[in-house]
Amino acid sequence: RTRSGSFSLGMKVGVSAGDVLFQVVGPAEKGREYLLAGLPLDRAAEAEHHGSSGDVIITPRVVELCGACGDELDNGFIRLTAKSEPPRFKKVRKEIKYRESWANIARAFIDPPVYNRILLGLDSVGEIRRVSVIFLSFTGLDYDEDPEVTRKLEAVYSWVYGLTQRYNGSINKVDMGDKGSKMILTFGAPTAYENDERHAVHCGLELIRGREEFNQWNLKWKLGISTGVVFAGEVGAPNRQEYTVMGSTVNLSARLMAKCKPGQLLVDQSTFSRTSEFFDYNKPKKFKFKGISQPLSTYEPKSVKTAIPRMDVRSSKPLIGRLTEMKKITGVIEDVGKRKMRVIVIMGSAGVGKSRLSQETLQLIDAEGFNAGGGEALSYAKKSPYLIWISILRGLMGLLSSSGTAENLERIKDAVEQSDPEHAYRTPLIANLLGISCPDNEITQHFDAKLRQENIYDFLLQYFRFKSEAKPVALFFEDAQWIDKNSLELIAYLMRNLADCPLMLVLVRRPYSEQFTVEQITEIEQSDAAVRIPIGEFDRELTEKFALSCLEAQQIDGRLLDFIFDASHGNASFIEVLISNLKSQAKIKLVTNREGVVKAEREGELSDVEVPDSLNSLIM
Ligand SMILES: Nc1ncnc2c1ncn2[C@@H]1O[C@H](COP(=O)(O)OP(=O)(O)OP(=O)(O)O)[C@@H](O)[C@H]1O
Ligand SMILES: [Mg+2]
Repeated sequence: RTRSGSFSLGMKVGVSAGDVLFQVVGPAEKGREYLLAGLPLDRAAEAEHHGSSGDVIITPRVVELCGACGDELDNGFIRLTAKSEPPRFKKVRKEIKYRESWANIARAFIDPPVYNRILLGLDSVGEIRRVSVIFLSFTGLDYDEDPEVTRKLEAVYSWVYGLTQRYNGSINKVDMGDKGSKMILTFGAPTAYENDERHAVHCGLELIRGREEFNQWNLKWKLGISTGVVFAGEVGAPNRQEYTVMGSTVNLSARLMAKCKPGQLLVDQSTFSRTSEFFDYNKPKKFKFKGISQPLSTYEPKSVKTAIPRMDVRSSKPLIGRLTEMKKITGVIEDVGKRKMRVIVIMGSAGVGKSRLSQETLQLIDAEGFNAGGGEALSYAKKSPYLIWISILRGLMGLLSSSGTAENLERIKDAVEQSDPEHAYRTPLIANLLGISCPDNEITQHFDAKLRQENIYDFLLQYFRFKSEAKPVALFFEDAQWIDKNSLELIAYLMRNLADCPLMLVLVRRPYSEQFTVEQITEIEQSDAAVRIPIGEFDRELTEKFALSCLEAQQIDGRLLDFIFDASHGNASFIEVLISNLKSQAKIKLVTNREGVVKAEREGELSDVEVPDSLNSLIM
């Protein structure tokens, strides 16, 4: 009986006994987890399956140990009956003395946001919120016989933990039970971020790709992702609580997982519609699910979509300032026209106008008849090997997410054969790099990882040589502050080997993080072929010009301009947001004088205007 009515709860219990693997996994400071695994767990689950509501089923091993008796079922399982003697045990429990620092040790087992909430004494009320849930299962670890299993378990767990961290997710549950080991990962709880569903799918793709080591162990993964509303919060009795997510969204993710073939990832409609812009998906398939009357569409993401973002944007606003920068760029374009490879590094802090300058560059080279390609690195995919190159190559080869595998494969085949007919056998290597599945042929099937890489690198040399023969080629690397190490190595490799090709590489980046130390950065950016173009904030005069263009005015009130310049320090993104805030708060009015000149003026006091205190709050 509850305040909301009466409900009946049924419970059945399976009991088993035996040796289990007990292991604490994960990094020492946070993200720890204790795991139980082994046959007795599977047997307990099996026992439970033999019962129905109200039953306690025990395994033969339990009978052996404590001599309980009851009704005999299949395979030696016993159902305890009312007449069953209660089993007798020696009292074994001792008082446990916790070490003084137990709180610190325990802390590592609690998700930091949950820990902080407990620390602050905040009520652990549950909340209803939207999350994306990954339900994953893997098979292939033998918890009972394999002497290496603890090492493997640690490796698998730490890897999943690391990936989850990278995509702002959280490991919510781990269960090493029967029919494979399962984990529930949440994106959006306990902490919500922008693009939680996008992060979940990205994480799912990496999980399904696995690691080479795991192939040797023969691990098989299945993943289901669903997005929707769940109950999230701490549940349990006062002396044992757990942060958990519950609801039909979680169930659906488990059911999706169950529909997967080994090595497959399926997502639900809601995850699909929120992410179809960012990933290539296979054609949907409908399945019937337990407890849901209508069949549901399921979608299988294949790879990160590789449209060329922002590349085609023709800015309607004219370029403000940047004369010296454009002069350097024009010089480089001339050099490339004379069959030289050159590199431009457009660098500066967030929002200063780097991408705007690269757009301007794109328009210039377009007019010069260059071929252009480009891609962007992603903040959450800093370790995805070659991600940005994959976008660039897919774009250049004309691979489309809307076309089928056969069509895309045909394009890759053409590219390989045209640029290097002698090595036409390389098609499967290139296809697989670009996320188009293609079985190995007689030659490539014998290649090990090293040989594959050498062949891919060599193909790229031939490809760009061939491609730049007809027209110069320009490649844009947007948001290169998030580029992965392998992509940088490839850039350096091409620079070493294609010095006499009309090829222009444009790296557009914020400062690299201090931890990102790849030796190729120096090699690339300090080379004679490279020109570094630092982009700074606008001075007051350019701020005025830029503000006028944002306001679509010809004049601006001096104190309004002061306010904008002081708050923004001349940062273009900042100015844009600030002006749009001022407009929406009716702090600016446009006045047209008799000569038809539009002037922007202050309306009321500006002191209470909301000013974003840092650019991060604007951009992230
Ligand atoms: N010189 C300029 N002339 C006209 N508009 C500009 C200029 N510089 C920047 N802008 C505009 O200001 C906004 C922010 O600039 P942009 O996107 O190029 O910044 P960014 O340096 O690439 O930022 P991020 O580091 O976030 O990628 C854009 O709308 C852009 O069109
Ligand atoms: Mg940019």
